[in-house]
Amino acid sequence: MADDCPKSDDVMHAESWEQRYVEGTTGWDLGGPPPALVALLSGLEGGPRRVLVPGCGNGHDAVAWAKAGHDVVAVDYAPSAVLGTRQNAEAAGVEVDVRQADLFALPADLDGTFDAIWEQTCYCAIHPSQRDAYVEVCGRVLKPGGRYHGLLWNHGQPGGPPFDVTPDDVRARFAAAFELESLAPVAESVPSRANEFLATFRRPA
Ligand SMILES: C[S@@+](CC[C@H](N)C(=O)[O-])C[C@H]1O[C@@H](n2cnc3c(N)ncnc32)[C@H](O)[C@@H]1O
Repeated sequence: MADDCPKSDDVMHAESWEQRYVEGTTGWDLGGPPPALVALLSGLEGGPRRVLVPGCGNGHDAVAWAKAGHDVVAVDYAPSAVLGTRQNAEAAGVEVDVRQADLFALPADLDGTFDAIWEQTCYCAIHPSQRDAYVEVCGRVLKPGGRYHGLLWNHGQPGGPPFDVTPDDVRARFAAAFELESLAPVAESVPSRANEFLATFRRPA
């Protein structure tokens, strides 16, 4: 995946990500939801959630949430990712509200409207200097009691993207505004993603 990503300095620009989609060098794209999301969805209790998928890429995860009956908003700032998500949602016969937007400048109408955030390969794709701002965005868009679910990759390599994510890093960054509900290695990762963990943080009610 590293070879397919924009260079570290370019990671904050939509054009760099868009270029990857145009070239078809999207090694991060699993072509479907990861096993950890399939397991999460099958174990969820209660009614449908309103879910945000930031950095949605081609929207496989957003489509999986929508197919499971949830109300999904998917955000990406690369135009081809937005198009890919729309096409995948249409092919699956589900509704996904797809927004082309910078996740650090989300429209105010999204504030406080989500029960859940789901992401993979977004926290590791943004520049580490943006991580605190990312956590602030999560706190702003979630309802009180809402949950952030991150499938995060502790690959242990220097540089990026993908930038390494450690359990200590996310625990520390989410600590000020969230309660940690769970953080554990995932049982099943795709072979190219060893050492993933799933973290769930809850915005206090
Ligand atoms: C490594 S890709 C992962 C895509 C998707 N999560 C997946 O697993 O297939 C990272 C995605 O995040 C998007 N992205 C990065 N920074 C962003 C930002 N500030 N606002 C919106 N999207 C962003 C990129 O355009 C890219 O589609």
